[in-house]
Amino acid sequence: MSLLWTRLAILGLITMAAMQPEISLAADADPLQDFCVKDTNQQLHVNGFPCKDPAQVQASDFASAVLKNPGNTSKGLGVAVTAANALNFAGLNTQGVSVARIDFAKNGLNPPHVHPRASEILFLAQGTLLVGFVTSTPESKLFAQTINAGELFIFPRGLVHFQLNVGYDTAVAFSGFNSQNQGTSQVAKALFASNPPIDDAVLEKALQLSAADVQHLRSLISKT
Ligand SMILES: *[C@@H]1O[C@H](CO)[C@@H](O)[C@H](O)[C@H]1NC(C)=O
Repeated sequence: MSLLWTRLAILGLITMAAMQPEISLAADADPLQDFCVKDTNQQLHVNGFPCKDPAQVQASDFASAVLKNPGNTSKGLGVAVTAANALNFAGLNTQGVSVARIDFAKNGLNPPHVHPRASEILFLAQGTLLVGFVTSTPESKLFAQTINAGELFIFPRGLVHFQLNVGYDTAVAFSGFNSQNQGTSQVAKALFASNPPIDDAVLEKALQLSAADVQHLRSLISKT
């Protein structure tokens, strides 16, 4: 490439970069005012929720008892995840944080899943958990270890992770997220219990399963 063309190409790239719109809008934005308590009467869909009239905002908008009681761990895999995020806690709209309570029955499992919009910091309040995540690098490296009450563990944003109760009793953890709406995609459910279902041919080839295996897994996963 001639020097002129190289210079023109560089100039073009700089111009394009300068003209990029606010790319950060795709993430939790920094608040532009003190607060934006979610207006539950608005049906408008935006990136987040519209704000309640500040004159109508009360202290109670910033309080929540969502995590007060243990979740019911008697069904499925023996885990109950109770989230306090922008979907059910109006005051944290636009604040870029949320929290969840995770109750585990004995041997309860929070199965492999991802949070597309948040890193997760887990504080184990009670019990013993085997926790781990798998990297997105080609070698899919697993980082897993056992943690005890009072300890923390970080799950990096977007990576597949899990928590298994390996203690002698129930366990309780609280997780903080750096998003007001962390999102949760369950790996097994996404593959075997999506709506509508993923074509059998995709699952058979991707996971090297027979048609019968796929049907069997579909029926098992849809019950969890
Ligand atoms: C927990 O869920 C089980 C199974 O659905 C149900 O039978 C039980 O009544 C629930 N317990 C509480 C305390 O809600």
